[in-house]
Amino acid sequence: MLEKTKLYTKIVGYALLFLWTEVRLAVRATIVRRQALWLGSSTAEERTRNIVIVGASFAGYRVAHVIARSLPPRSPYRVIVVEPNSHFQFTWVLPRFCVVKGHEHKAFVPYGGYMAGAPEGSYRWIKDKVADIDQATVKLQDSDEAIPYEILVVATGSGVRDGLPSRVNATDKLDGMKLLQGMQNRIEAARTVVVAGGGAAGVEVATDAKALYPDKHIILIHSRAAVMHRFGQGLQAAAREGLERLGVELVLQDRVVNEDATSRAVALQSGRIITCDLFVNCTGQRPLSEVLSNLSPTSISSTGHIKIKPTLQIADDSLPNVYACGDVADTNTPNPNARSAMRQATVVAENILLAVAGKTPRHVYENLWADGAIKLTLGLDRSVTHLGDGTSEVLFRSKERDEALMSAMCWSRLGAKPFEDEYTDAHKAVIEADVNKA
Ligand SMILES: Cc1cc2nc3c(=O)[nH]c(=O)nc-3n(C[C@H](O)[C@H](O)[C@H](O)COP(=O)(O)OP(=O)(O)OC[C@H]3O[C@@H](n4cnc5c(N)ncnc54)[C@H](O)[C@@H]3O)c2cc1C
Ligand SMILES: NC(=O)c1ccc[n+]([C@@H]2O[C@H](COP(=O)([O-])OP(=O)(O)OC[C@H]3O[C@@H](n4cnc5c(N)ncnc54)[C@H](OP(=O)(O)O)[C@@H]3O)[C@@H](O)[C@H]2O)c1
Repeated sequence: MLEKTKLYTKIVGYALLFLWTEVRLAVRATIVRRQALWLGSSTAEERTRNIVIVGASFAGYRVAHVIARSLPPRSPYRVIVVEPNSHFQFTWVLPRFCVVKGHEHKAFVPYGGYMAGAPEGSYRWIKDKVADIDQATVKLQDSDEAIPYEILVVATGSGVRDGLPSRVNATDKLDGMKLLQGMQNRIEAARTVVVAGGGAAGVEVATDAKALYPDKHIILIHSRAAVMHRFGQGLQAAAREGLERLGVELVLQDRVVNEDATSRAVALQSGRIITCDLFVNCTGQRPLSEVLSNLSPTSISSTGHIKIKPTLQIADDSLPNVYACGDVADTNTPNPNARSAMRQATVVAENILLAVAGKTPRHVYENLWADGAIKLTLGLDRSVTHLGDGTSEVLFRSKERDEALMSAMCWSRLGAKPFEDEYTDAHKAVIEADVNKA
């Protein structure tokens, strides 16, 4: 009981810290906006010193948002964001939209709104991929341009080879929507579906598929003794209960070692062969740190993460101007997620604002247990939220009424009106034709 009381007190403390940070940043952005109105701001041409941010998802987009809105209006610095995706890709809803039809456009949020209020000239957005980085420049893949930088942020996140349900693996919204529709159709057409990996992605896609199609045979194969094994026992039990309630067949302590698309046979380490119509890979992601492999190979750990100092400068004393945050950074976060990525991003932004003012970066990132909180859907109409500090854990069970989950909230928080998108309007005919074909 005492442990639980302590936990609730800590939850309140964490919420207050979050609110305080947001208020502080909003007040500073308002002051900068006012100063820009009264005194004017440096033009893009006058801002010759670049802070380059590689990747604009939860981590990179947040760094860009905080810095561009906080730089003094007369600053010679500007933010340059390099991101290949046409839209912000909202990972949280991908497992759901791989199963349920009609919402796929909501997973792609127009970029731009989150930068609202940043003074004119304070940032430039480049839709491209960084191919390589040297001591002074960032080389772009498509345009062949080399962008000089004084300060660099690597926020390239993590990825998977097979794409959905974990990642889209397409840069364009329309292509991404088609990939989601393709997965929905394959699940609808399959009688037996094998899902490999009992982390959050595997559990969510398996429970959604079984909830929507109760007559299908859905098999979830997980390497460990319990699904969601990285979390507390309460969540492990709740996830198992959710799978069993729906009738998902659970195979534990076994691994998928091979899957043959032609014979549709999935081979397990135990020797068991399962024939299925569809194999869905949810076996986890890897950090995308290759961009640093020439500039600072020693900063890349054996897991592929970027080694960092507590200030989130990379662990390379010769490069104090290079930072990393989010999934790609080796922060020892127990459950790397959007919350921890955004908190790291705030630390990076604050340190860069000190550096451009000629001061020493002094903000440090510490893992807070509440960063690891997770909301796990267990079918179309319910979810469980888990918070644990290693000693104690609490679970909140909720009814889920919105099939699109937190899409609308994500759009609003990123400064976009749900679900208005000029891009979708411009491609309306193609989108409608695809939906009718499906
Ligand atoms: C299926 C799924 C569901 C999830 N659900 C939740 C959830 O409900 N709640 C939660 O908190 N977390 C959730 N997560 C975790 C969360 O999505 C990640 O922790 C978060 O996306 C990390 O953000 P990031 O910015 O570090 O990296 P990413 O989101 O991986 O983004 C990296 C960005 O960098 C860009 N990039 C990569 N390489 C380059 C390059 N060479 N040049 C330029 N740009 C590049 C990419 O295009 C991308 O936009 C989920 C993850 C998955 C896979
Ligand atoms: N609702 C949410 O908040 C949400 C939803 C989805 C994802 N996420 C987050 O996104 C990240 C990625 O999630 P994820 O579910 O894609 O990956 P994950 O958490 O790494 O889970 C994948 C699991 O698959 C197991 N596995 C690996 N290879 C296997 C094989 N061949 N056969 C059977 N099992 C195998 C892994 O265990 P081993 O260690 O034994 O290899 C691992 O536990 C995580 O941080 C996760 O928390 C969050």
